[in-house]
Amino acid sequence: MEYLNLLLLILLPVTLLKVFSWITKSSPTNLPPGPIPLPVFGNLFKLGKKPHESLTQLAQIYGPLMSLKLGFLTTIVISSSTIAKEVLQKHDQSFSSRTVIDAVTVLNHHESSIVWLPPSPQWRTLRKLTNSHIFTTQKLDSNRSLRHRKLEELVSYIRKSASAGSVINIGQAAFTTVLNLISNSFFSIDLADDFGSDSVCVFKDAVRGAMCEAGKPNLSDYFPMIRFMDLQGVRRGMSKHFGVLDEIFEKIIEKKLLTLQSREGKGDLLDMILDPSHDIGIQLQRHEIKSLLKDFFAAGTDTTSATIEWAMAELLHNPSKMAKAQSELSDILGKDGQIEESDIGRLPYLQAIVKETLRLHPPAPFLVPHKADNNVEIHDLVVPKGAQVLVNVWAIGRDPIQWKDPTCFIPERFLDSKTDYKGQDFGLIPFGSGRRICPGLPLAHRIIHLIVGLLIQSSFDWKLENGLRPEDLDMEEEFGFTLAKATGLRAIPINRL
Ligand code: HEM
Repeated sequence: MEYLNLLLLILLPVTLLKVFSWITKSSPTNLPPGPIPLPVFGNLFKLGKKPHESLTQLAQIYGPLMSLKLGFLTTIVISSSTIAKEVLQKHDQSFSSRTVIDAVTVLNHHESSIVWLPPSPQWRTLRKLTNSHIFTTQKLDSNRSLRHRKLEELVSYIRKSASAGSVINIGQAAFTTVLNLISNSFFSIDLADDFGSDSVCVFKDAVRGAMCEAGKPNLSDYFPMIRFMDLQGVRRGMSKHFGVLDEIFEKIIEKKLLTLQSREGKGDLLDMILDPSHDIGIQLQRHEIKSLLKDFFAAGTDTTSATIEWAMAELLHNPSKMAKAQSELSDILGKDGQIEESDIGRLPYLQAIVKETLRLHPPAPFLVPHKADNNVEIHDLVVPKGAQVLVNVWAIGRDPIQWKDPTCFIPERFLDSKTDYKGQDFGLIPFGSGRRICPGLPLAHRIIHLIVGLLIQSSFDWKLENGLRPEDLDMEEEFGFTLAKATGLRAIPINRL
């Protein structure tokens, strides 16, 4: 609040001028409906602590195509599958730019980032690289054994904790495993080695820290003329975290170049990018490689581990669903069988659990902000050029018109349905859809099924810490760039065998 007072005091003349030009500037008359904006602040105060929930409630009043003013930023909020389809399918081209947040302009990251670039030739080349050299079925199949090894480490950690009767922080264990899975796929190194402890891991802290800064509602985004003041210290925080990541990547790249010279490369992604004998269709500069790596770690770790933590939280909160999932695993894989990637297709209930988790807890509740490149007419209303477009997938996943008992965890709803999250069913789009759909989806799909399957396999049971009853488990969400569980999920594994 003190930031807002300070802002008013210092910038009153500037803001008044801006207000005047804002009022007089011609904007389309048929903007989507929305709450009346206050001068200067617009509807900023409507966001609250959980913007995904506040905007869902506002959409119940103003409809699934709604407009807001966040400071000086015109924002359009989409809250139904029908309008999401219009935006991400019919008008995909007009909406495939990004509203770039101030946090990611640090070290000019946005200028070479696959996440933040507009749909330019540079972005298209990067997407081509990911789609044809990184996340193809063939490439993912080729490093299956690597994921298997990392899962073995998770199993042995759970076994040890079970023998000692110690508590596991499930989100943290998932994050460590996902981080190591991604770092091994990209450069054959474990970046996290502290499974259970809360001890500081420099890399992990930097990734989490950067996600946290990027997720903060930032006054610099709503009042561009005061960006230089960095009132909330977001740029400072981001510079620190990006600096740490850059330094680590720099060292890894240097080492890789040495191994390539001595022909000891392991054929991982970084070898492929650095070795000129591989034709990947693009020669990336050093800073572009580091941007790509930052994007993959930021976009891939928190999202995937949050999904695993939510799935386990829902199962521990709903013991009958847990029992059903365990029984499917033991029926298909045997009493002490361990899940492998080729088993995923044979486990419909596990797949339904993952879909239901992503419906209720989409890690990116508004996707990544899109931007209108031109005025676009949808159902006689106009989304103005330059507007930020937020697709509220959290609201769409809980839309009572689309889903029966929308707030209940019922994986069974997906058993007789072909609905999937691959971008064609607009009621379930946690990875987005269209040009900007998440390129990491095929990897995330494998990792989430593997880790959730492994955590609930029949050789373990789980009980909540401190004798907590399933119905008392705290299921509160915390808003950020990733929609996290507000309190970490802690449970004790019990060896069944
Ligand atoms: C973009 C979700 C895992 C890499 C996105 C977007 C969403 C998303 C919603 C933005 C789509 C849009 O704006 O329309 C998720 C979820 C994940 C996940 C729910 C796991 C549960 C991953 C993984 C990676 C990854 C594992 C890579 C290692 C990316 C990249 C983009 C992206 C590079 C930017 C694409 C672009 O803007 O062109 N993801 N993601 N994601 N994701 Fe993921």
